[in-house]
Amino acid sequence: MREEAMAAPGLPRSPEELKRHPFAEALFRETLRMYPPVSWTGRQAKEDLELHGKRIPKGTTVLVPLGAYGFDPKLFPEPDRFDVTRWMGKKVPPSAVETAAFGGGPHFCLGYHLAWVEVVQFATAFARELARRGMKPQLAPGSATPKLTYFPFGAPPKKTRIQLVRA
Ligand code: HEM
Repeated sequence: MREEAMAAPGLPRSPEELKRHPFAEALFRETLRMYPPVSWTGRQAKEDLELHGKRIPKGTTVLVPLGAYGFDPKLFPEPDRFDVTRWMGKKVPPSAVETAAFGGGPHFCLGYHLAWVEVVQFATAFARELARRGMKPQLAPGSATPKLTYFPFGAPPKKTRIQLVRA
């Protein structure tokens, strides 16, 4: 992250400039895969329908587990492993399942591209500032790697603490 941040001339402000930040983008996608803040959403059936052999009568509320798609081992081998590199080198834009953290269909997140560029900008600025000060982040003593929390929203446990130490 630090190497990429130091190599870029500034913070990205356009899709063209975002291409200089493949690691930061991969970090954004892998973090959302494992820690989706919006882990589920709901829809109401507008008509009777059948889903995977189950009859869904009109008016039923159907919950969609957005956070679960990122843990499908067919799509993401060893899904419990945080691995930024699984997103790198992809030649095609992310699929609907790969962007499930932002919902889907007509109500797909309006802020998707803004969130993407903001996270890349933040990660880049933060990495640069830490490099300038010769520091790096690490989990504070006694603090464990965040466990997944899904309900009502995805969030790290309150006890998670990160500290900055000399690199
Ligand atoms: C990592 C950041 C974000 C995540 C994970 C996220 C996630 C989501 C999800 C899952 C939905 C769909 C909810 C549903 O269909 O029930 C949604 C909708 C929406 N998001 Fe985001 N969002 C993020 C950032 C943002 C930002 C930065 C903005 C605005 C600046 C934004 C604005 C919206 C709006 C307006 C909708 C509703 C779209 C509609 O109903 O047509 N989101 N978001």
